[in-house]
Amino acid sequence: MTQFICRPGGKVNGSIRVPGDKSISHRSIILSSIAEGTSHVSGFLQGEDSLNTIKAFQQMGVSIERDQDQVRVCGVGLHGLEKPGADLDMGNSGTAMRLLLGLLAGQAFDSRLSGDSSLSSRPMRRVIDPLQAMGATIESESGGRAPLQIKASSGLTAIEYDMPVASAQVKSCLLLAGLYASGETIVREPAPTRDHSERMLRAFGCEVISNDSEIRLPGKQVLLACDIEVPADISSAAFLMVAASIAADSEITLRHVGINPTRTGIIDILKLMGADIELLNQRDIGGEPVADISVRSAELAGIDIPSHLVPLAIDEFPVLFIAAACADGTTRLSGAEELRVKESDRIQVMADGLTVLGIDAQSRDDGIVIQGGEPGGGVIESHGDHRIAMAFSIASLRATKEIRINECANVNTSFPGFAELAHQIGIKIKVNAG
Ligand code: S3P
Repeated sequence: MTQFICRPGGKVNGSIRVPGDKSISHRSIILSSIAEGTSHVSGFLQGEDSLNTIKAFQQMGVSIERDQDQVRVCGVGLHGLEKPGADLDMGNSGTAMRLLLGLLAGQAFDSRLSGDSSLSSRPMRRVIDPLQAMGATIESESGGRAPLQIKASSGLTAIEYDMPVASAQVKSCLLLAGLYASGETIVREPAPTRDHSERMLRAFGCEVISNDSEIRLPGKQVLLACDIEVPADISSAAFLMVAASIAADSEITLRHVGINPTRTGIIDILKLMGADIELLNQRDIGGEPVADISVRSAELAGIDIPSHLVPLAIDEFPVLFIAAACADGTTRLSGAEELRVKESDRIQVMADGLTVLGIDAQSRDDGIVIQGGEPGGGVIESHGDHRIAMAFSIASLRATKEIRINECANVNTSFPGFAELAHQIGIKIKVNAG
């Protein structure tokens, strides 16, 4: 069992580039595989989640060559995928499973999607139900869980769908199925969610019409190969943004980070708490905005997190709870029940871990209330959730005693090299590979 052992205290300094964006990396492989022609991806995330996506398309006959973070994909066109010889194993990744389900729903062959124990306990009805309304045949385990069996399709029909949850995975799943459907797929979201699929579909030459909360995609469009530069992942940068904010005498620059406005809730929330964050050198890379982010130590104060920022920071709450634990006063989060169905139940697992550190953290059905204080030390159960493991290692900067974090191997799903990079900038972290 991989354990992080973090000695208390320290400060962080440096200028670093964290690995590529996970959401964009998955989408770059999916779309370039079904495009006409050869696409080149640079800055690809070499994490287990996105590498599983590459493997799945190789199993479906797509020639994909990778040299570190450079990937060459020979697209097979909308109808060129082949029946895989075995299960497509999506490991720990909800994004890969839900997006591929949309794509596979439109294929003329049977397939089966599986995943690890965490992924096999996550809700899939949110994608199965609308896909069935489009004409897909999908069999699941009880409660709509993976493994998922997808039957060969003889044609999908576009639907108009009001999403009950604000989920970019559901939206993207339906847009991918919509590529194979006759008619125009219309998806409405209850709150804005990350729009990487829409941006990238346009980069591949597709017509996607977005206005306000509605996204429309005419079916049966041809995708044309293009080159994609993946920016550094703001969700990975978030750990180091909090690190530099809570540690004394710290200053860090995070280079070439994606700052798509559907992802920048972390910056807005930290700024509301009093963080000293500056966006430098803002530019546009292939349809996605990018900046260098400079963060300095600051005295943080507890806040009521505005509800409109919740979907825009959905993956960053574990580390935001660490910021709240080190802030002066009370932080309250509500309207975030989705956190209970991520790689772990992030409300309960964070509340339990903060309690181990002596921080008053009260879980609610849809959020948490945290009283800022002085974290102590102890043994934290991450439940194999990469973002929980990384979040508690950041807490060590303000802890008074050693923090040991169990089950950290899944950090490699999104942030390979995290411990080494964290150590290099000043976090006193050691990995015990057990
Ligand atoms: C993602 C969407 C979000 C996010 C996940 C990545 C994506 O999930 O939590 O890490 O790439 O579309 P939901 O759609 O479940 O909110």
